[in-house]
Amino acid sequence: MGCLLFLLLWALLQAWGGAEVPQRLFPLRCLQISSFANSSWTRTDGLAWLGELQTLRWRDGSDTIRPLKPWSRGTFSDRELKTLQQLFRVYRDRFTWDVKEFAKMLHLAYPIEVQVSAGCEVDPGNASNNFFHVAFQGRHILSFQGSSWEPAQEAPDMANSVIRVLNQKQGTKETVHWLLNDICPQFVSGLLESGKAELEKQVKPKAWLSRGPSPGRGRLLLVCHVSGFYPKPVWVMWMRGEQEQRGTQQGDVLPNADETWYLRATLEVAAGEAAGLACQVKHSSLEGQDIILYWGGSHAFVSLIFFVVLACLMFLFALIIGVTFRFKRQPSYQGIL
Ligand SMILES: *[C@@H]1O[C@H](CO)[C@@H](O)[C@H](O)[C@H]1NC(C)=O
Ligand SMILES: *[C@@H]1O[C@H](CO)[C@@H](O)[C@H](O)[C@H]1NC(C)=O
Repeated sequence: MGCLLFLLLWALLQAWGGAEVPQRLFPLRCLQISSFANSSWTRTDGLAWLGELQTLRWRDGSDTIRPLKPWSRGTFSDRELKTLQQLFRVYRDRFTWDVKEFAKMLHLAYPIEVQVSAGCEVDPGNASNNFFHVAFQGRHILSFQGSSWEPAQEAPDMANSVIRVLNQKQGTKETVHWLLNDICPQFVSGLLESGKAELEKQVKPKAWLSRGPSPGRGRLLLVCHVSGFYPKPVWVMWMRGEQEQRGTQQGDVLPNADETWYLRATLEVAAGEAAGLACQVKHSSLEGQDIILYWGGSHAFVSLIFFVVLACLMFLFALIIGVTFRFKRQPSYQGIL
């Protein structure tokens, strides 16, 4: 009995938890891509996103990080931004130099590709977490954890040699720690303020159906396209009545050029079973008014038009016959009078 009560309570708590609206977070993600064709030819590019929106770009060779949004500078003063810019320029030069030194020391073969993904996230209670990951030749090798560098899981041996050297540079570690724990959360808080309107925008999806390439004799590939929505989370499913069709296959959510998203969901069925299927779309911008598109809906519409035209024609035909009949009768009618 006690167990049953406990289960009931547990189920209630689960339902309670499930009803909570998840808080949307906007992590700042900075991506650095450094390519070393040989010991003399290198380039480094930088990009930054807040949530789904690209906010900054730093092209190779350029002295300044370019804001891509009117609110990309957050609430930092020009002086603060200038100091940071200076710091990143020094970082870029030191980074390039360090990688070449490591290549010499560890006899690494060119071309070399190094990627850095770093940033932070601030939750509504102002708590923040951060990350700094480094990949070598496309493989995650080390991260900054707490206040020092640590190898990634299953990192190659060379990662340990690199980390031994990096962990001796106390000044660099303190700067990275400061950037990740103080500067990044402050910058993100400012961005959340200055970019609020655009970050919280809602753009409704458009949806349409098409027929995909035939998967085989007597079979159909139904395609449901959903495009132009923002933010990214979306739910698209092929349905028969209330029944979700488990065969529904979703593609990747792909970016449109206007900072909205595109997704397609396909379902393979026997040709005879397509009628009555519908594609259903749920998205925050629709405020509960789901989009539902029926397969063959356009055919039903065409038949409706056909019937309307037919009815009009019949009416016209009846009218003509009636008029002709009246004209024929009229003389005799007048004749009687
Ligand atoms: C280094 O790579 C660049 C770009 O691929 C190439 O143009 C250049 O000739 C190379 N230099 C040397 C010294 O190999
Ligand atoms: C979070 O920090 C901002 C400024 O940094 C402040 O305005 C806001 O009141 C803080 N929020 C909470 C919940 O502490």
